[in-house]
Parts: sequence; structure tokens; C-alpha cells
Amino acid sequence: MRIQIINGPHLNLLGVREPEIYGKRAWEDYLKELRNRYHDVRIDYFQSNLEGEIINMIQEVGFDRDGIVLNAGAYTHTSIAILDAIKSVSTPTVEVHISNVHQREEFRRHSVISPACMGVICGFGLDSYTLAVQAILNKVASDAEEM
Ligand code: DQA
Repeated sequence: MRIQIINGPHLNLLGVREPEIYGKRAWEDYLKELRNRYHDVRIDYFQSNLEGEIINMIQEVGFDRDGIVLNAGAYTHTSIAILDAIKSVSTPTVEVHISNVHQREEFRRHSVISPACMGVICGFGLDSYTLAVQAILNKVASDAEEM
């Protein structure tokens, strides 16, 4: 079982960036905890501030992982190129947001990438990633039952 987490712009600053919105917890601590919790799953992590690098990573991992957990940051609201990347690969993607984007500015309420995603999880802080990993594992288990 192998899952890829991809974080977009500014998410390298978790713990420092707008802590009242994104929390004070450092990403590395959280990731360690997530990997311990799901020790049977290989959880790979990639972050980039660049749209093209996010697309390259989706293409690179999009045919042989069990799932992608994607927080595209602000590209969520603008990037048709990332929408197309998600559509171009066979691995299912879960869209995540740390904050509840529906409680924030109007422009954050619309995601251009959601139509290509298996589902969307937002508003649970860093737990949004845990819920997304669990959703992928549940899907893999139910797909296996159907076979
Ligand atoms: C975010 C929400 C986006 O609107 C914002 O641009 C981000 C982070 C979140 O995780 O809550 O960079 O994706």
C-alpha cells in the first residue's frame, strides 16, 4: 500500500504561516505521527510552490500509487492544468484543505479541481490528511471486496 501526499504553495510554512488559520503544528511532527499510525502504508511526501512541479509529481506517481492526497493550496481555486493532471492519471486523488474554505473568502469557496477528485475533505486542521488517508484505505478495501 502506497499513498502520495502532495502539498502546494506555502504549505512548507505550516506552523509559521497564519497560525490562527493553519495551526501551530510543524508539518514534520504531524507526518511522523501519521506514518506511525499507518505503519503498514508507505506514505510519500512532496511539496512545491510551483504549479508545474505539482503536475510533474501527479504524472510521476499517478499510475502506481493507491491514492494521492492533494492540498493544492491556492491553485485549488485557479488551476485547470492541475485539474487536467488529476484527470490524466488512474490513481484516485482526495482533495484536502486544512481550513474550512467555505467559512473564508468567497474566492476560496470554489475549487476547480474537485470534479476530478474522489472526494474533498476540509476544515479539520492537519487531521484532514488523516481522514483522506483513511478514505483511500477504505476505498482500496471496498474495491478488493467487490473483486
Ligand atoms: C488551503 C486553502 C486555500 O484556499 C489556501 O490558498 C491554502 C491552503 C487549506 O489547506 O486550507 O494555501 O488549501
